Amino acid sequence: MANHKTRLAAFCSGTGSNFRSLYHAINERGFPAEFTLCLSNRSECGAIAFAGQHGIPTVHLSEKQYDTHRAFAAAMLKSLEEHGVEYILLAGYLRKVPEAVVNAYSFRILNIHPALLPEFGGPGMYGINVHKAVLEAGRKETGATVHYVDPEYDKGPVLLQRKVPVEPGDTPESLAARVLKCEHRLYPDALEKLLTDREI
Ligand code: GRF
Repeated sequence: MANHKTRLAAFCSGTGSNFRSLYHAINERGFPAEFTLCLSNRSECGAIAFAGQHGIPTVHLSEKQYDTHRAFAAAMLKSLEEHGVEYILLAGYLRKVPEAVVNAYSFRILNIHPALLPEFGGPGMYGINVHKAVLEAGRKETGATVHYVDPEYDKGPVLLQRKVPVEPGDTPESLAARVLKCEHRLYPDALEKLLTDREI
């Protein structure tokens, strides 16, 4: 299948700047991949708007819409199947992916985390909390990690990691901005690695 494009879903909850950088890298670097779905737990957010502008199908799926967790997970799997999704890229998705989905997509879900896992990961370690914790711990460097998702938060095997210096006088916000810049290069590089390794 020489012309097969790997079908990707982005799961997002917010701005979606990582989703955007992945989308642009796929086009600019000619990766044999395409987004066939952008799924969000929010009906409106930057990521959903971006997907709409670029002709990527969107789905708003929130656990609140379902009576049971099981029904929610089944709806998520149905959506993934309907859009022929092969890999899921979590990009600022602030919900835990249901275990049924993690199991169905074993080693086919990636997440990006704004620190050097296994440090500064786990429950409560998201957004600005991560950068606050890094500064409080007095670290001289931090970074970003792309890892496979397994049922435990931030625990799956690392695919790619890159360091970012902590500068004197950094605030959680200035550090977050420097790390995010790194994330925008790291996630496309990790996707390239995933697509290449898969073909070996
Ligand atoms: C990033 O820092 C990412 O590491 C984390 O959430 C943030 C998402 O930002 N998981 P965006 O929505 O991609 O702009």
